[in-house]
Amino acid sequence: MIFSFQKGIGKAFHSKKMKGACLNKLRGVKFSISLIALICTTLLIWAWESTPLLTNFLPPSEHFDVHLGMPSAVIHSEIPPNHVDFKDRQQPTEDDSAEARTPVGPIIQVMHQVSENVDANTMPDLVDEKARLGTSPSIATLSGSSGVVPDDDKVSDTATNKKRGCNYGKGKWIVDKKRPLYSGFGCKQWLSEMWACRLTQRTDFSYETFRWQPENCEMPEFRESAFLSRMRHKTLAFIGDSLGRQQFQSMMCMITGGRETSDVENVGGTYGLIKAHGAVRPDGWAYRFPRTNTTILYYWSASLCELEPLNRSDPATHYAMHLDRPAFFLKHFLPQFDVVVLNTGHHWNRGKIIANRWEMYVGGKPIANRKLAQIANAKNFTVYSVVKWLDSQLPLHPGLKGFYRSISPRHFVNGDWNTGGSCDNSTPLADGSEVTQDHSSDSVAEGAVMGTNVKLLDITALSELRDECHISKYSIKASTGVHDCLHWCLPGVPDAWNELLYAQI
Ligand SMILES: *[C@@H]1O[C@H](CO)[C@@H](O)[C@H](O)[C@H]1NC(C)=O
Ligand SMILES: *[C@@H]1O[C@H](CO)[C@@H](O)[C@H](O)[C@H]1NC(C)=O
Ligand SMILES: *[C@@H]1O[C@H](CO)[C@@H](O)[C@H](O)[C@H]1NC(C)=O
Repeated sequence: MIFSFQKGIGKAFHSKKMKGACLNKLRGVKFSISLIALICTTLLIWAWESTPLLTNFLPPSEHFDVHLGMPSAVIHSEIPPNHVDFKDRQQPTEDDSAEARTPVGPIIQVMHQVSENVDANTMPDLVDEKARLGTSPSIATLSGSSGVVPDDDKVSDTATNKKRGCNYGKGKWIVDKKRPLYSGFGCKQWLSEMWACRLTQRTDFSYETFRWQPENCEMPEFRESAFLSRMRHKTLAFIGDSLGRQQFQSMMCMITGGRETSDVENVGGTYGLIKAHGAVRPDGWAYRFPRTNTTILYYWSASLCELEPLNRSDPATHYAMHLDRPAFFLKHFLPQFDVVVLNTGHHWNRGKIIANRWEMYVGGKPIANRKLAQIANAKNFTVYSVVKWLDSQLPLHPGLKGFYRSISPRHFVNGDWNTGGSCDNSTPLADGSEVTQDHSSDSVAEGAVMGTNVKLLDITALSELRDECHISKYSIKASTGVHDCLHWCLPGVPDAWNELLYAQI
């Protein structure tokens, strides 16, 4: 029932998307002149003085005093003995895996056994993000109103963007002979095989040759040496789910140009990122480029919440998933980061939460509010909480830049990952190459950062145009028939996310 419900929404989304694409085209032709005229007029009027209206857009900053805790040793002493019976064996897990991986991780081992039994290409039971996106007011409004006369809102948005910089998420994909930035054959050192589409039977690689060009922003060409000099003596941390890991791998490949590099140091131990006994992999990775003393790290936190075992002596313990507390790793190591990029999204669904034995807590107690206990509300609450917390930390760590990355879109057609859904299109940009909306397609992310100094890394709408860039049916192992329309081929779309990050650092 759930699946057919999702299917229905998927269809609805699809047609909405088509409608959106048509409107985009229409707008491109008809409205651009009047829009430009209006914008110019507005800018002329507003350019040289800061009106009360404009200053109203500048966020007030909120300050919270949050106590940073515990020595890092605690991370490991928290790990209870292994072995739990993972109920959900039928349900394949994403290979890179185990949303259960947390600072406390008895589920890790079993989860990895599960994921080893299934193909690399298997998918998590994902939240109906797409459905949510498809029905979200922002998309509905945007495709409905992207229309005829630009309203006041739009004009003031544009003026605000000009004033405050620009909107990196608005622009278009263009062919660039200098793409990709590294080879999918070459970057073996950092790229997981399951994401290196060059190593699979896939034959069309035209998708690799596009670059994202924001409409109103200067985009510096990504150069390894320039990036590393800018990040001299600095640490960049990606914290989030497997899509965050993709962005991390992409960054490692971009920085090295995909070439084998022998001088990069593994500094995972410094962050407690050590493979636990019996685990297939650690909870994250950290690498240091000695020439510039730059560290790039990734930590697995699917929900961004602190997870606390409810009974430390019980190997099958449930966990308090504290929606109002950031993941311990994030909180603990934040003072050592210079740039932090957070993401979450695809693990917010009932199936995952039950399978992981997560119990949602707020204020140190199980959630009593039934409305808040609904997954979409709990996710929204968490995203707002973690962004607000990060914002509260920024003044304590001058120079720290905090980003929240908007949701990475999925492209399953005719089903979900486990009901025969696929993403077979291989023609780049079949639905258009431009994002013209001013708002993010991820209204939760956009709302959460609003009024804070945390920046939105808004990749949703631009990635939405790239349905041909997923792993799809390809795999280097024997295919299970399950398509991956969530993760991206690398090199690919996450490289563009990193270019946008680079432009904003
Ligand atoms: C490397 O950078 C860190 C800051 O990220 C700094 O504390 C450390 O002293 C630097 N090491 C060297 C050898 O310069
Ligand atoms: C915690 O787990 C242990 C081992 O399963 C069990 O014996 C004990 O009764 C549990 N404690 C509580 C408070 O439930
Ligand atoms: C998300 O939470 C914020 C803060 O509590 C609230 O203002 C907003 O309306 C919520 N959004 C949704 C979609 O529930």
